[in-house]
Amino acid sequence: MSERQYLSGFGNDFASEALPGALPPGQNSPQRVSYGLYAEQLSGTPFTVPRALNRRSWLYRIRPSVTHEPFRAYDQGAVLLDGTPNQLRWDPFPIPTSPTDFVDGLQKICGTGSAAATMGIAVYVYTCSSSMEKRVFYDADGELLIVPQEGSLRIATEFGIIDAGPGEIVVIQRGIKFRVELPDHLARGYVCENFGALLRLPDLGPIGANGLANSRDFLTPVAAYEDVDGDYEIIAKFAGNMWAAKIDHSPLDVVAWHGNYAPYKYDLHRFNAINTVSFDHPDPSIFTVLTSPSELPGVANLDFVIFPPRWMVAQHTFRPPYFHRNFMNEYMGLISGEYDAKAEGFLPGGASLHNCMSAHGPDAATFEKASKAKLAPQYVDDTLAFMFETRYALRPTALALESEHLQRDYFECWQGLAKHFNPDKP
Ligand SMILES: [Fe+2]
Repeated sequence: MSERQYLSGFGNDFASEALPGALPPGQNSPQRVSYGLYAEQLSGTPFTVPRALNRRSWLYRIRPSVTHEPFRAYDQGAVLLDGTPNQLRWDPFPIPTSPTDFVDGLQKICGTGSAAATMGIAVYVYTCSSSMEKRVFYDADGELLIVPQEGSLRIATEFGIIDAGPGEIVVIQRGIKFRVELPDHLARGYVCENFGALLRLPDLGPIGANGLANSRDFLTPVAAYEDVDGDYEIIAKFAGNMWAAKIDHSPLDVVAWHGNYAPYKYDLHRFNAINTVSFDHPDPSIFTVLTSPSELPGVANLDFVIFPPRWMVAQHTFRPPYFHRNFMNEYMGLISGEYDAKAEGFLPGGASLHNCMSAHGPDAATFEKASKAKLAPQYVDDTLAFMFETRYALRPTALALESEHLQRDYFECWQGLAKHFNPDKP
């Protein structure tokens, strides 16, 4: 392990070498690379994307990536059913007791769009009980936003090692090979696969130069390599399906790299939450951590939004999230604690889906309580919820709709919302 574990910044042009002088000075692809390494470019965007959005890295590795045997079919991707206007909510999916690694523990819940269309997302939960052994995974379809909910992850990538646990997120972009190890021998969390534009920090507008997620808090690993021969397997997600290929050495053999296309992690506790200091709610977009914009201004392919611990000080205001029907489609999960719109039923590790214009909001118990609450300043400390929000309706998989963990009585949480209207009593 290198003395410095991470480089900080978002989308910066980094350089890192695990052996001194492994990076060629002043050029990308010299005739001979130091230490007998091969040079390989990994392009995260088309070559001709404008400079500000262009992402690529140069990898200096023991063998080039191409030295694997042909891929064979490994697993077919789950088919998406028709979208539903019904509100859906799931209990946490249990962690398997039989050995299941990160790749085999990925279960697709819902999605929209495709890699071919370079738009849309897919949402997965992962539940796993064993480390990936002698195999690595890469996703050619999209970048992966990993949200651990239980158990920490050690993610060994081509760029170095990322340690992350609940309360942090990890983004591993399209094509980057990685292996997930489980220091706690179990793990559960959420993954959003983003087929659209790479996630970036949102513009801040009138907020100014600082606030929300700050660039310096994004951490990218320093170079770390494995020089190990043996029977390894590469699992690739390509065009919706999983593929497997044999290779005779660890593919995590990058000794040095430079560029601006590299995985990163972010501690959600570093998020500088901004909220009202007078009355009413800003819309939840005020809590956007990262966004994948579409070609329409302000209409995101994906927004990653969190609801972190924060002060509530709004005067003469109904403080929980308001009742709403939105253009955007919302998949929500809970990392820890409680979510202030629901009295019960939305559990850490659970999830909900409210599609375009599907009505939702606080349940009856929360409405009654919050309508009568004394409005002193209140610190909401035991909560960390998040939302994957997309312009496209999310279509569930059969696994999600047939699951015993689907709460078939979810709609009942709103049935107790009583009529209070009295035309004679303003
Ligand atoms: Fe909502």
